[in-house]
Amino acid sequence: MENIGKIPFNYEWRNRWIIIQDFIRNPFQEIWFLRDKFEVSELYTRIAKRDRDLHDPNIPQWLNFGYWKEETTYDGACAALARKLGEIAELSPGDKVLDVGFGFAEQDILWVRENNVDAITGINTTELQVEIAQERVARAGLTERINLQVGSATEIPCEDNSFDKVTALECAFHFNTREDFFAEAFRVLRPGGKLALADCLPRMGRDIDFWLRVNSKKMCIPFANQYDRHTYVEKLKKHGFVNIQARSINEYVWPAAVRYFAEVGKGISKHELAIDLQKDNPGLEAWSRDRGWFMAFDDYLLFSGEKPD
Ligand SMILES: C[S@@+](CC[C@H](N)C(=O)[O-])C[C@H]1O[C@@H](n2cnc3c(N)ncnc32)[C@H](O)[C@@H]1O
Repeated sequence: MENIGKIPFNYEWRNRWIIIQDFIRNPFQEIWFLRDKFEVSELYTRIAKRDRDLHDPNIPQWLNFGYWKEETTYDGACAALARKLGEIAELSPGDKVLDVGFGFAEQDILWVRENNVDAITGINTTELQVEIAQERVARAGLTERINLQVGSATEIPCEDNSFDKVTALECAFHFNTREDFFAEAFRVLRPGGKLALADCLPRMGRDIDFWLRVNSKKMCIPFANQYDRHTYVEKLKKHGFVNIQARSINEYVWPAAVRYFAEVGKGISKHELAIDLQKDNPGLEAWSRDRGWFMAFDDYLLFSGEKPD
């Protein structure tokens, strides 16, 4: 696995200073973010309520960073990331899949249509997303094959050994804790079944310090989940998984995220963005020294592991 190195000292101090200024400018909002019981479902409900396109059935509702190797639109890149995870999970006809943290279930509709999996059970903590996702699945005519429920990935309301695959598309960093989810995923997978995740983490060499704690809190990422890719693999092993694979996709995610936030910040709809990394690529560092640092993740990997037969 490649090491993308430590963030230069001067970037870190500049970023710390921005956090202090935010606090001085708007202490009430900052305290609100940092309070003890700021739940992830609250974060996603607030995001959903701000979205003007939420009830438009013709507009996809992806919520991930996307895989921009060949794609130039946000919706295309998000679908490409779901396809990539489907490939890692080896989703196939006949599979019974558990998909946790499904957002608005875009990937579930895609996996049924393109991979022809038999049935998907989805679990998500954000009630508003579950309601809207259920409407979208019904409109797609897939209620017989996609069953969506409110629930947590860390307490899966399903029997032992009941799924061929478990998937987590850009969500496990939120789980309290990610490791509890590994244990649950192992329990509900049948022997020989496969867990596949697309996940964001702090890159190797980042100090696991006070500043990371503050940023994690703002992003609803439990501090216990802030470890690098090597520890991640160790934790999968510890919970019984074998044949573990970890593939970095940093170069096809973060440079596009730099352009994404710059454009969306100017008021352009994410559905209208055109980002072509082959023609215009700001590089990985541009992300790491700014938002990657604030968001407390700048390492993006696809992980997989199997439950022994
Ligand atoms: C970044 S969004 C990703 C959504 C979707 N997978 C996608 O790619 O469009 C993270 C999702 O994880 C869900 N989530 C967070 N914590 C969860 C938990 N403990 N159990 C289940 N879902 C959770 C959130 O409600 C949200 O839908």
